[in-house]
Amino acid sequence: MEHLVNSRVKQIELSGIRKFFNMVADYDNVISLTIGQPDFETPQHVKVSGIEAIQQNYTTYTHNAGFLELREAACQFLKRKYGLTYSPENEVIVTVGASQAIDCTFRTLLEEGCEVILPSPVYPGYEPLIKLAGGKPIYVDTTHNQFKLTADLLAPYLNEKTRCIVLPYPSNPTGVTLEEDELKEIAELVRDKNIFILSDEIYSELVYGKHHQSIATYLRDQTIVINGLSKSHSMTGWRVGLLFAPQAVSQHLLKVHQYNVSCASSISQKAAIEALTSGIDDAIPMKHAYEERLEYVYNRLVKMGFDVVKPNGAFYLFPSIKKFNQTSFDFALSLVRDAGVALVPGSAFSEFGEGYVRLSYAYSMNQLIEAMDRIENFLNTK
Ligand SMILES: Cc1ncc(COP(=O)(O)O)c(C=O)c1O
Repeated sequence: MEHLVNSRVKQIELSGIRKFFNMVADYDNVISLTIGQPDFETPQHVKVSGIEAIQQNYTTYTHNAGFLELREAACQFLKRKYGLTYSPENEVIVTVGASQAIDCTFRTLLEEGCEVILPSPVYPGYEPLIKLAGGKPIYVDTTHNQFKLTADLLAPYLNEKTRCIVLPYPSNPTGVTLEEDELKEIAELVRDKNIFILSDEIYSELVYGKHHQSIATYLRDQTIVINGLSKSHSMTGWRVGLLFAPQAVSQHLLKVHQYNVSCASSISQKAAIEALTSGIDDAIPMKHAYEERLEYVYNRLVKMGFDVVKPNGAFYLFPSIKKFNQTSFDFALSLVRDAGVALVPGSAFSEFGEGYVRLSYAYSMNQLIEAMDRIENFLNTK
């Protein structure tokens, strides 16, 4: 009966990150730096709010857009951190992780044949959802531009079919983020065109040395901002995302969201209120720890001779392995077999990720030290 399965669904594949993770699970004594999730526990006070939510019977459906108290906290968060103003009543939706916010956005905006621009290498979560919604992913190679999608790079790709530009900054897999001027130039290029920006800011709280800036600051009417608690509060399993859009768009996003999931988990929403009020700065100590790890791993990689762009956000490094004349998959596989370290082949992040590997440093310093030692030994004996 498989022939009856929707052809768009048959076209898409499981994420290459997961595939590689599952494959290396069979090898013993491997240090895996493959997964993009914080290694910290959810802050204790947030956990307690979740427990209390169950005990106090917050176990029913909520408003489709989420508890008003949470929407208020979410808008306050955006206002306080990035100076953005959204109405809690009708410009924010609490979603099931950022993932569902992305899906909701594509389903709401795309028509058959619409083009969506993806700065690549890119997080693999967008392409399948674009295709399921009938859209066409258009990859823009950023590898010669320090992994940045700038207005100059973007301009030749814009045409009457372009419906949306995905701007995921700081980026997974490169960790690179965009500066204020670069965002302004993109905003000017796109202003008054029939194009939306999907600004995926899930790593906004993990920007090093400078302050995160949202493109919505310059182009509010055409921007959909996605954020959430997965990375900032180490809450990947709680599944809380946030979707901000001008009311004219968010009223339509809400319909898709409503029929898709009704609402995000009531229990997780209660915990999220705590995270975004008393815990609004919970990410700061985690950020300091990541920054220290970044310095360590980056310096080790450079000393080993890797060509690697120094990122300023998220918790990834994306070193080039081009000089080894192997595909990223073969390089990653030999690293697992011969060094006992797992990194994600860059090809999991579109064809423009080929020639690179992604290293997540959301692991303990001890694991990172050991992994770097193993990679160094591996290279010395290669
Ligand atoms: C760029 C980016 N967007 C969205 C997500 C999904 O986030 P969530 O777990 O909140 O669905 C991830 C997760 O790794 C990500 O890296």
